[in-house]
Amino acid sequence: MDITRATGSGGWGSPAPRTQPKLEPTSPDIVGPFFRDGSVVSDRLCEASEPGEKLILQGKILDQSGKPVQGAKVDVWQADRTGAYDISDPADKDNPAFPMKFRAHQVTGPDGEFAFKTIRPGHYQIGENQWRTGHIHVKVNDGQHKDLTTQLYFPEDLMTPGNATSDLNDSDHWFDPKRVVELVSNGNQWTQANYNIVLADPGK
Ligand SMILES: [Fe+2]
Repeated sequence: MDITRATGSGGWGSPAPRTQPKLEPTSPDIVGPFFRDGSVVSDRLCEASEPGEKLILQGKILDQSGKPVQGAKVDVWQADRTGAYDISDPADKDNPAFPMKFRAHQVTGPDGEFAFKTIRPGHYQIGENQWRTGHIHVKVNDGQHKDLTTQLYFPEDLMTPGNATSDLNDSDHWFDPKRVVELVSNGNQWTQANYNIVLADPGK
């Protein structure tokens, strides 16, 4: 008697139902001090004339079964190429003297897709010998799945502190290699930064 066959949940002659493995939800990250409420709906985070490496941040919002999530608000913010946000003091987040820049949101349609034209953000210093590697902040919520606040990173962020060139990804406490975008040159001046975001099931 084949004991391995006798103990399956389906028993003899009826195979156990196959369940599709669930996708791992995208992990959260800190919101940081520079989030501002009230971003506009736009497919751009900055003007077309903004200096820097031109990026299209794009992907899909998926649930854990891999289905596109419709009606998800995707709110994105980032620094400019020098690592500066539109505010340098978090106390100014509601101050109209500092117009919103590098901030926008979209609401996904049935395909779950989002796409923002922007430039690659620079790293910035947060203390003596402490840096944030280049990153893009993202908040996603659809009222159904677990709300997500996270950050997306780049394959490498080289800088030269003193005389040694180093990859800031190695020294940024928050950097997570699971949240690195895929960079694809589309043959003209734009680089695609691709990343699909998976929302956790409710209650997880
Ligand atoms: Fe940041």
